[in-house]
Amino acid sequence: MSLNVASASALWVGSYQRRMAVSLDRMYENALDWAHLPFLHQGSFASIELIDAGDWGWRAALVSAHASEQADAFIIELSLDRTHRRWISSTLEGPGAGSEIWTHVFEYGSRDIAIQADFFVPGVALDQKARVGASYQKLYQGLYDEDEAMMLGRQAALDQRGSQKNLDSKPLDLGALESVRASLPFDFEFNGQSWRLIQERDELLVHSLTCPHQLGSFADVAVIDGTITCPWHGYRFDVRSGRCATGQTCSLPAPPVLVRRGGRLEVMAAISS
Ligand code: FES
Ligand SMILES: [Fe+2]
Repeated sequence: MSLNVASASALWVGSYQRRMAVSLDRMYENALDWAHLPFLHQGSFASIELIDAGDWGWRAALVSAHASEQADAFIIELSLDRTHRRWISSTLEGPGAGSEIWTHVFEYGSRDIAIQADFFVPGVALDQKARVGASYQKLYQGLYDEDEAMMLGRQAALDQRGSQKNLDSKPLDLGALESVRASLPFDFEFNGQSWRLIQERDELLVHSLTCPHQLGSFADVAVIDGTITCPWHGYRFDVRSGRCATGQTCSLPAPPVLVRRGGRLEVMAAISS
């Protein structure tokens, strides 16, 4: 018979609890989302290489943002158990091998959950327990600050998308051309979506402020070498063509068309071919 306990040699060093206004679906999606680790959590992880993934969880080689060498990679396996509303992250190889983090989730409402993560670490002397526990709590506090912001942002974007009805595609007057130019980058809403007007190599152009992958926001993202990089999973897009420069199949939505009329700047819906 197998017992549901962390490996016998690992010591429980502490736990971390947090209540969040997100759904269980968002939380599970986040736990299964291995790809966000080196982007959303770039302060903690330098890179990830996937070994296997599925509905059950994932296994990957990770390098800490604080590792001095790529050779310091560690293999993590996260296995999700929906029946018991928990997932276990086990370090299988490399620094920290034998550690397990058990996270249980408690559902209080459709968008009201709490998590408790328990940290089990091997080779910790009893007089070091509090110090090691506190460092895991600090790490988890930072990771969940970032995860919660992502889950809330994604939920808000999904809600906004779901509420789009009867879109009004009449042209939108952005203002006098010179004053719009003076306030670049210029953000506006049109046809139920968020857009940004920028100047790129002497040309005014508009790009979407929403990532086509999982609706990450480009609101805090600057254009570098004609591209924008999503902070959630690192997909990079050419602002002129909309194409994904990191090889994924999604692309930015076609922007509205800019029209200069009597010294003013307007946008109107692009005519789809
Ligand atoms: S939401 Fe995943 S790369 Fe933008
Ligand atoms: Fe995360």
